[in-house]
Amino acid sequence: MENKKLTAPELMELENKYGAHNYHPMPVVLERGEGVHVWDVDGKRYYDFLSAYSAVNQGHCHPKIINTLIEQTRKLTLTSRAFYNDKLGVYEEFVTRFFGYDKVLPMNTGAEAVETAIKLCRKWAYERKKIAENNAQIVVCENNFHGRTTTIVSFSVDPDAYSNYGPYTPGFVVIPYNDVNALEQVLTANPNIAGFLVEPVQGEAGAYVPDEGYLRACHALCRRHQVLFIADEVQTGIGRTGKLLACDHEEVHPDILILGKALSGGAYPVSAVLSSSDIMDVFRPGQHGSTFGGNPVAAAVAVAALEVIRDEHLTENAQELGQYFRAEMDKLCQTSEVASFVRGKGLLNALIINNENHKNLAWDVCLKLAENGLLAKPTHTNIIRFAPPLVITRSQLTECISIIGDTIRSF
Ligand SMILES: Cc1ncc(COP(=O)(O)O)c(C=O)c1O
Repeated sequence: MENKKLTAPELMELENKYGAHNYHPMPVVLERGEGVHVWDVDGKRYYDFLSAYSAVNQGHCHPKIINTLIEQTRKLTLTSRAFYNDKLGVYEEFVTRFFGYDKVLPMNTGAEAVETAIKLCRKWAYERKKIAENNAQIVVCENNFHGRTTTIVSFSVDPDAYSNYGPYTPGFVVIPYNDVNALEQVLTANPNIAGFLVEPVQGEAGAYVPDEGYLRACHALCRRHQVLFIADEVQTGIGRTGKLLACDHEEVHPDILILGKALSGGAYPVSAVLSSSDIMDVFRPGQHGSTFGGNPVAAAVAVAALEVIRDEHLTENAQELGQYFRAEMDKLCQTSEVASFVRGKGLLNALIINNENHKNLAWDVCLKLAENGLLAKPTHTNIIRFAPPLVITRSQLTECISIIGDTIRSF
């Protein structure tokens, strides 16, 4: 590599020229992060209100997590699961106790963990529920986002996500989100349903919070019909919504729990599937795996990342500051033609922009927010997700609320 420091336009041009165009980034080139802040290559500082889609709940480059990462990478990085390592078992005991499960299956990315959960559910259906071979079906919700693999996009309703990736994986039934009756109907009519895969708050759909009682009612229905309740908490889990898990708001303990993103505080790809021994024991040696899953770096980093959440009371902070943030955004919306309403839970929130007369208004608002020192990105054209690292303080949030208010009022 050359030594010369490239400018922001040069760096963007490199990505445009040599990278696949499967993303549409904001025109900001970042080179450093610390806590709630990131800095671009010109030294401008921003509040990060995306947190890498809620992976950086513990704040950028948290010293405890980074020190653990450095220490472990100096010692041992990868053994594969052909051998035991001295970090995996310790992590497995820690993470299962932390979330109240018997067993964990470690993977790397969120999508891989979702795939793992699907395989686990199907295998359980054939070996425990005794559904006839190849007949198991999993119920999913409209506007879901569970990742990008061929199987997962097979049950997406977003044409950008699924178009021209067929033939699609069969075995999924799509029902409306936040509709208990729809789930009841399908479970009553179809004895081949093995699982119900749901995001407790739909993240990519724009922090869409279901009605109070939805998760509890769905969980009870699943129990009654011997169907596994599978919660995808890749985005909502680990403190983000003001409880350790978003399902905790309704005291629901999923049969299968899927975690990713903040499980490493954004330092490393770490994901996990947790369940009871009875369910997890359907996997036997050789029937599922990953070269990197459960490697010692991932294991050490995940323990550190969860300790930070616990020891710095980040869940409680998300709960308290989330309420404050939504109250302030409500006030803003009451006096604004541009901002319609706010919704969310904890520090996973979305501001809905009125784009009737200006299709790209949310994008333009985000450009202006960046100019004013705050990074956020629209989802689904008119929704701006606001999800800062959970280490944000009340005074920092107050400053951010005024940046958002001033920006919105400038349109
Ligand atoms: C709910 C949910 N599940 C799964 C995923 C996929 O995770 P990854 O991008 O790490 O594969 C995401 C990513 O945004 C997500 O929000």
